[in-house]
Amino acid sequence: MRRDLLGALAPWARNTRASTIQQLLTLVPRPGQISLALGLPAVETFPARELAQAAREILEAEPTALQYGPPFEPLKHQVAALMSRRGAPCRPEQVFLTAGAQQGMSLLARLLLEYRGSVVTEERIYTGLQQVIEPFEPDVRTVATDLAAGMDVEAVAVQLARHPPPAFVYVIPDGHNPLAVGISVGRRRELAELARRFGVPVIEDDPYGLLQYDGPPVPPVRAWDDEWVFYVGSFSKILAPALRAGWLVVPEILVPRLEVAKEAADINAAPFTQRVISRLLDTISIDSHLDALRGIYRARRDAMLSALGRHFPEEARWRRPAAGLFVWVELPGVPDTLEALRSGIEREGVTFLPGEAFEVHAGRRSHAGIRLNFSHVSCDQIEEGVARLGRVLKRALVAPPSTQPQEQSR
Ligand SMILES: Cc1ncc(COP(=O)(O)O)c(C=O)c1O
Repeated sequence: MRRDLLGALAPWARNTRASTIQQLLTLVPRPGQISLALGLPAVETFPARELAQAAREILEAEPTALQYGPPFEPLKHQVAALMSRRGAPCRPEQVFLTAGAQQGMSLLARLLLEYRGSVVTEERIYTGLQQVIEPFEPDVRTVATDLAAGMDVEAVAVQLARHPPPAFVYVIPDGHNPLAVGISVGRRRELAELARRFGVPVIEDDPYGLLQYDGPPVPPVRAWDDEWVFYVGSFSKILAPALRAGWLVVPEILVPRLEVAKEAADINAAPFTQRVISRLLDTISIDSHLDALRGIYRARRDAMLSALGRHFPEEARWRRPAAGLFVWVELPGVPDTLEALRSGIEREGVTFLPGEAFEVHAGRRSHAGIRLNFSHVSCDQIEEGVARLGRVLKRALVAPPSTQPQEQSR
C-alpha cells in the first residue's frame, strides 16, 4: 500500500512534533506580556553600530569577502586569545570555527555517536543537545545534578565503566541551562580525570563561561584536560546570536574530520561573518565589552533574586546563579508547572519555562521547578513579571505552606 507523506519520513522525524510548551509560547503575546521564558540576551548590548561599520569597511575594501572561502584564520587567533581569558589557553590550530555552539555540538555528535549508541547527560539539559542526538535514537543514560555543585560525577564514573562505553558525556560547566548551577572545581577535575582514564570524550558546552558575575572566574573543565575534553564556545551571548558564530577547541587531529562534517552541513564557508567579527574584535575592547555585559546582567540577576523574595510563595527555593542568564526555582508545592504556565499566559500575561521542557526522560528527575530568564527584560519588568508569576504560583499551590526551616538561600 502507498505510504502517506509522513510515512515517508525516517522514524525519528515521523515522531517529532512541537511540544505543548512550544505551542503555549507561540500563542500571540498580549500587549504588556512579560517574557521570563526564553534565553535571549539583551538587545541593547548588541554592538550593532560597530558591526555595521566593520561590515561596511570590509565590503568596500574586499568584495571577495562574499565569495565562498576557507575559514578566516585571524579569527582563530582571536578565539585562542579569548580562551586564555576564559582560563583554558589553546593554540589557534585547535580552534574550529562553527555557526554557533549548536552547530559545534551537532558536528561533534556526528563524529562521535553511532546510531543507537549511548551518551551520558544530566536529567535536565539544554533542549538543543537533545535535538542534536535525537536522530541517532540514542540510549541516554542520565545522572543527577546537585543544585550546589553540579553534575553527579560519581554516577558518571559508574556509567563510564559500563560496556560498551558511552560515546560522550555532555556537560554545561557554568550557568547551567536550565538548572543555573556551576560545577564545583573538584568535580571539574574529577570529570576531566574520568574522561582521560576511560577514554570517553566530554563535550563541554560553555556559552555562559565568560558571563560569571561573582569573584574570580572558574576555568572550564578543559583547563584540566586538553585531549579528552572538547570545548564548545559561542559568540551568541557575548556579541549577538544572529551572527551564528561559535567555535570548538579540540585536539588538532580532529580538525580535518570536523571540516568534512561541516562541509556536509553548510560547505564550511562563512568568511564574511567571520571577517566582520574579527574586525570588531580588533576595534572594540573585548574586556570592557564583557565587563559592561556582566554589569548589566548582574544587576538584573540581583533584581530578580530580590523580587523572588518579595513575591514568591514561601515553599519556593532558589540559589544565586554565579553565571549565565537563568534562575532555577524549585516549587515543591506546585504539582503542575505546565498548568501554571497556561494560567500565567492567560490570566497574568507572564511566561516562563516549566522544568518539564528540559527533561531527557519525561518524569524521571530529582527536582521539580521552573526556569526564569533575567537577561532580556529590564529590572522594572523583572519586578512586575515576578510579582505576576508569584500570584499565579500562590493560586496553584495545593499544599498548605511548609513549616520546614528554609535551608537554601533565597
Ligand atoms: C547551554 C546552551 N548551549 C548552546 C546554546 C546555543 O548557542 P548558539 O547560539 O551558539 O548556537 C544555548 C542557547 O541558548 C545554550 O543555552
